[in-house]
Amino acid sequence: MTQLLHLDASARPGRAGEHPHGSHTRALTHRFVSRWARARPGDALTYRDVGLRPPAPVSGDWVPAAFAPPAQRTPAQHAVLAESDALVDELLRADLLVLGVPMYNFGPPSGFKAWLDQIVRIGRTFDYQPERADSPYVPLLADRPRRAVLLSSRGGLGYEDGGEMAAMNHLDPAVRTVLGFLGITEVHGIAIEGEELGGEVLARSVAQAMGAVDRLVDRWLAANHPRADAVLCEAA
Ligand SMILES: Cc1cc2nc3c(=O)[nH]c(=O)nc-3n(C[C@H](O)[C@H](O)[C@H](O)COP(=O)(O)O)c2cc1C
Repeated sequence: MTQLLHLDASARPGRAGEHPHGSHTRALTHRFVSRWARARPGDALTYRDVGLRPPAPVSGDWVPAAFAPPAQRTPAQHAVLAESDALVDELLRADLLVLGVPMYNFGPPSGFKAWLDQIVRIGRTFDYQPERADSPYVPLLADRPRRAVLLSSRGGLGYEDGGEMAAMNHLDPAVRTVLGFLGITEVHGIAIEGEELGGEVLARSVAQAMGAVDRLVDRWLAANHPRADAVLCEAA
């Protein structure tokens, strides 16, 4: 059984195509997760919405609590870390992360950044071992194969690798850097572009992204679970 963690980060509550002013990243994550679930209805799914219910930002009390050895934490420090612990537990259970993250001002929305800050936890998702002089940081999520898909949307054009706006894309590198630091190095990115231009440009990009999502789901299902291939062929 695969454990999926489906996370949405758009401030817009509805899905594009179903709601006026709906979110394209919510539409992409929905497409991914529903196609996966049709092929493998027995897989487990956890849903987290950091767009509508953002985690708390890291605070002055959070920092010493997170870096205190667990046995020495006060009850108040345990309480300060409760949300972080719940988010970390959810992450540790996951084999596959389906992340819907729009570009806001060249980076991730603040709710998603708050989520990243809450899941990077010494002793839980990474460790620091100074005796390992060459690589003191130990990624604790490298304990088993895990992968992520970053489903994004941007108002402008050209933020893809090699594109004329690529140097201003601080979203994809931030997500890959943090997940890689924790041990999730297989991160596949698919993005819609031209949301602010609309019309044909946007329609073409949406169609391409939806097709890319379908192909990625089928590829990962086939790679992980050879029998899922047969199910998908039957449905076609
Ligand atoms: C606060 C805010 C900041 C944005 N900043 C950018 C940006 O820096 N670059 C860009 O191309 N589009 C930007 N956009 C456009 C969004 O990336 C685009 O609307 C995207 O589709 C939002 O994702 P969603 O459809 O899932 O809500 C911004 C939108 C908002 C609301």
